[in-house]
Amino acid sequence: MSIFASVRRAFTRTSPILVTGASGKTGSRVAARLARQGHDIRLGSRRADIPFDWNAPQGWAAVLKDVKAVYIAYSPDLAVPGAVELITRFVEAAQAAGVKRLVLLSGRGEAEAQACEQIVLKSGLEATVVRASWFNQNFSEGGFAGMVQTGQITLPGADVLEPFVDVDDIAEVAVAALTGEGHAGEIYEVTGPRLLGFAELAAILSMASGREIAYIPIPHKDFLDGLKAEGAPGEVVWLMDYLFSTVFDGRNAQVCDGVERALGRKPTDFETFARKAAAAGAFKVTEPA
Ligand SMILES: NC(=O)c1ccc[n+]([C@@H]2O[C@H](COP(=O)([O-])OP(=O)(O)OC[C@H]3O[C@@H](n4cnc5c(N)ncnc54)[C@H](OP(=O)(O)O)[C@@H]3O)[C@@H](O)[C@H]2O)c1
Repeated sequence: MSIFASVRRAFTRTSPILVTGASGKTGSRVAARLARQGHDIRLGSRRADIPFDWNAPQGWAAVLKDVKAVYIAYSPDLAVPGAVELITRFVEAAQAAGVKRLVLLSGRGEAEAQACEQIVLKSGLEATVVRASWFNQNFSEGGFAGMVQTGQITLPGADVLEPFVDVDDIAEVAVAALTGEGHAGEIYEVTGPRLLGFAELAAILSMASGREIAYIPIPHKDFLDGLKAEGAPGEVVWLMDYLFSTVFDGRNAQVCDGVERALGRKPTDFETFARKAAAAGAFKVTEPA
């Protein structure tokens, strides 16, 4: 680099917004929105130029250098053992680096996630929590997408209702909190506009995709045994056990107004999501294994 280029770069350098989980469902959308609005972003990923790994705190100072705000999407889940300690350390590292603002993606009805929320909210930094219900996109690009593609959603929790939320809504709320004013101290409990059970959800996916996508209820133990038989890693089996025994038990069967409070508009309905995802080819057929 020439001396002029490096001097120009030094004078035009801005403070980026760090987006963790930048290749994931929410982080990719947060990063894309910020980029479209002209913000300087730093992608938080184990494959980024400056790698970011939740399990390698020694690398965090380099990733946080000059950063003014952080979108925190912890992986795999704030409920897993060790997450509270890592979030505590990360918030301390952010404070030490001079970060001004934090936006935490959290989950509903998880004691550990709520503990992480308190760590962020009590940090003394401008902090906002986006506490989300289960995502619509779990069925198009997340853990249950493969089931939808085979036409058989085989999950426990037949009687449970959940107000599934669209991750584009989550990303819009997160970007508002990262870049706008008036969001510090808020806990935005973001959900979709209505409660759905898996059977009704499957019917909507069938209508949107033009083929039958069935919901097949399965006992909790059989579900876990199936995951193990397929060779799922121990952490995944642990998380599914936790989520379906502890979180997905009806405790979160309420619609909340977080999207409307943060953005002044209604949240996206599951049917709108399903039609859009179907048009993008998310539900293409694959044969069951
Ligand atoms: N799914 C739901 O229904 C739901 C509901 C409420 C809350 N949540 C919360 O959402 C969060 C997950 O967010 P998401 O769904 O947007 O992500 P995601 O789609 O599951 O993607 C995971 C992201 O985390 C990164 N990642 C994985 N392991 C990492 C590590 N060791 N260090 C650093 N980065 C790592 C991945 O990036 P690289 O592979 O590029 O490093 C990827 O960008 C969790 O905290 C979960 O509790 C989920």
